[in-house]
Amino acid sequence: MTHPLLKTYKVGFIGAGHMAQALIKGMVESKLLRPDQILVSNRTPGKPLKLKELYQIQTREHNEQIVEECDIVILAMKPQDLPQAMANLASAFNENQIVISLAAGITMRSLQKMIPQPRLVRLMPNTPSLIGRGVLGVLANKKDEVVTEITKDLFSGLGVILELETEDQFDALMISCSSGTGFVFEMMMYWQDWIIEHGFTPEQAKMMTIETFVGASLLAAQSAGVDIEELQQRVTSKKGVTAAGLNSMRELEIERALRISFEKAALRSQEIARQT
Ligand SMILES: NC(=O)c1ccc[n+]([C@@H]2O[C@H](COP(=O)([O-])OP(=O)(O)OC[C@H]3O[C@@H](n4cnc5c(N)ncnc54)[C@H](OP(=O)(O)O)[C@@H]3O)[C@@H](O)[C@H]2O)c1
Repeated sequence: MTHPLLKTYKVGFIGAGHMAQALIKGMVESKLLRPDQILVSNRTPGKPLKLKELYQIQTREHNEQIVEECDIVILAMKPQDLPQAMANLASAFNENQIVISLAAGITMRSLQKMIPQPRLVRLMPNTPSLIGRGVLGVLANKKDEVVTEITKDLFSGLGVILELETEDQFDALMISCSSGTGFVFEMMMYWQDWIIEHGFTPEQAKMMTIETFVGASLLAAQSAGVDIEELQQRVTSKKGVTAAGLNSMRELEIERALRISFEKAALRSQEIARQT
């Protein structure tokens, strides 16, 4: 059962780009919110009008109207656009509002400096959220059960939601799950290319790659109480074919290469945070 307050709340989006569109689609189609509970503003008018046409939500010309009318305000513009937008809006927020920032790289400390009044939440979705299979991290500035429950309910249709304790956890989730989706695609591309080199069509290679990744993931997901290492041992016989490949992966230090890539991504995230 969703939190009763959600039935009465108005939820406003500032910014109507890709992420906002995906979230609105999920909220309307899952019937979590009625279209009249959703308000949208954007820098230029085209995207809100399209959303109105698709989902009968409400549009507003100015960001100030969203802040004035909504109980929950979702900041869905790019991180580099956020500070300027907040400079003109900051004083309009009140302490009862919940403000959810989607901006990667804008820390809770910076958000608090920009808009000190409301209850603040950082949300990190990843792109599989578009098909309800996301991993989403939620970090609130204060321990507040109502805020956490409402935020979890609001995004429940998008995937698994993890309540985070620290900014460090938030960054780790961003790198492993959001950037991580891109890292997995990179590996899938290597798989696909190798298969094509052995006489399969690109379509067949794509299907074989996808099914191998999905199959392994679902097997792991459905093997309660069995860890991934154990599952790997079950497909590996001593001195067999899989073992030869795995030994080579270990000799080539694939783990080290991946860890370095994760760390490089983390450094870039810190750099962006400093710039914004
Ligand atoms: N896309 C993802 O997979 C993903 C994943 C995790 C987190 N995020 C986060 O989600 C946020 C949005 O990303 P996105 O991919 O949806 O970006 P996007 O498609 O570029 O959308 C951003 C929207 O914000 C609008 N905007 C910019 N400044 C504004 C202002 N001052 N007032 C009102 N609207 C304004 C833009 O308007 P115009 O139409 O005029 O350009 C645009 O429609 C970012 O902070 C990003 O870090 C995205």
